[in-house]
Amino acid sequence: QISGLSLQSFLVFCVAFIFACFLLKRRGNLPPYPAGRVPVLGHLLALGRAPHLKLTAWRRQYGDVFTVRMGMEDVVVLNGYTVVKDALVTRSDLFASRPPNHLFDAMVDCGKDISAGRWGTSFKQRKRFATTVLKTLGMKIGAGSMEEKTQEEASSLRNRIAEYNEEPFDITHDVTAAVANVICSLVMGTRYDCRDETFRKLSEAVAKTVAENGAGQIISVFPLLRFVPIVNRAGINALEEVSKVQKVLREEISRHRENLDRKNPRDFFDFCLLEVEKQEKVEGLTEEHVLYIAQDVFFAGIDTTSNTLLWGLLYMALNYDIQNKVQQELDAIVGESLLTLSHRSQLPYVNACLLEVMRIRTIIPFALPHTTTETVKVREYDIPKGTQVLPNLYSLHMDPVYWPDPDRFDPERFLDAEGNVINKPESFMPFGGGRRTCLAEQLARMELFLFFSTLLQSFTFRTPEGAPPPNTDGVFGLTLPPHPFKLCAIPR
Ligand code: HEM
Repeated sequence: QISGLSLQSFLVFCVAFIFACFLLKRRGNLPPYPAGRVPVLGHLLALGRAPHLKLTAWRRQYGDVFTVRMGMEDVVVLNGYTVVKDALVTRSDLFASRPPNHLFDAMVDCGKDISAGRWGTSFKQRKRFATTVLKTLGMKIGAGSMEEKTQEEASSLRNRIAEYNEEPFDITHDVTAAVANVICSLVMGTRYDCRDETFRKLSEAVAKTVAENGAGQIISVFPLLRFVPIVNRAGINALEEVSKVQKVLREEISRHRENLDRKNPRDFFDFCLLEVEKQEKVEGLTEEHVLYIAQDVFFAGIDTTSNTLLWGLLYMALNYDIQNKVQQELDAIVGESLLTLSHRSQLPYVNACLLEVMRIRTIIPFALPHTTTETVKVREYDIPKGTQVLPNLYSLHMDPVYWPDPDRFDPERFLDAEGNVINKPESFMPFGGGRRTCLAEQLARMELFLFFSTLLQSFTFRTPEGAPPPNTDGVFGLTLPPHPFKLCAIPR
């Protein structure tokens, strides 16, 4: 007996106290959990099939900052413009790392790429270098420029669409192939015929990797499940598919190494290989890095741009008046001549439409997961170093304070009283911002403009007569693509 307490009760009390201290220490002063957390799974069930809708709804209930439990891990969700901009832009360095992720790490040898790269000198050098190369390639004008290559793809996409002869068709494959070809030209200086065997294998492997990745993420939430092949089937498939992409990229790297013209680098691989030669003695960029960065460009650059375009065409078909206005502006400024980037500044309504597409269906609703690099205070909470943080970009784009009636598709939101596009609108960050901002915003904007405008210059898009209205919810995965849909393209 210790002053009236049995030894047994005392021991139970001690164990409970130590456990509580452990939990408190682990949690720090983290933001609150929403309701619906269950043992082992945490909030996974409560998040359902559309986590972007759930987390944005929770914002209304729990405020701008809360914690969700993903299996065994606490993840802090940041919502709304003030908090997200503060984290991504104003205090960017403090939120600039990426969390470990079993599947992604297996694909890029633990962050040797850019998108999964952990914050540090080596990552900063890689990102700075890749940004400069994309800028250099993007600035090239005239023959061989990215503008010219995208124009070529837009015009061959237009020809393929014309072959459907106004019949209902699923445009996904053709759009994805066109965007993939822009990336092939950028990275390896080659465009492929759509029927080419290598191109077919490459595009298929990219698409399958993205598709399997969603389900494969189960092993990142419950790492031990990676030892259970039946549960980890999607993860295993994703790794098999990614190795096919790597095979093509490795072959291209060798081909480039053999034919390297040191005075006249033509594409992304040429610039990278020259840098590898320069850095050989300082343990800088290696061919392995080059492989994984190129892989990033394929995965981040095809799915995002092609799905944004698909949303754009779908919203045009569903909003006939708006499509009409786009075409009137194109007719007045471009007519039947070849559309070029120099037309962009004269086409405010077209630009506003594209911005509205990126707002209403945020293609990467939570950006990519971030991790804190230091213990950091957000509002009244202390978020420990190494905590996973999700910036809910969807919540910015659906905030009724900035975007009244946010579910309505309305390009006018992005125009000022004089009809000019609003420069840097608030609560709008489709490409993220700060240290981990998208690597290729300029390239993506150029592609969206040239593809979208060329197609609307040539066709009017309609939903097939008598068909049920397409579902515009989107399918939540690594990105938010539309559900499969069919359109008719009527030549103008
Ligand atoms: C990262 C959006 C196209 C390459 C990101 C992020 C977003 C984004 C939201 C995450 C930012 C963050 O984690 O805070 C988009 C959109 C696109 C697009 C909306 C098109 C409509 C592209 C293209 C490429 C690309 C065409 C490559 C050619 C990357 C890379 C990252 C990234 C490598 C990782 C950056 C890092 O971790 O530092 N993008 N992206 N993206 N994007 Fe894009």
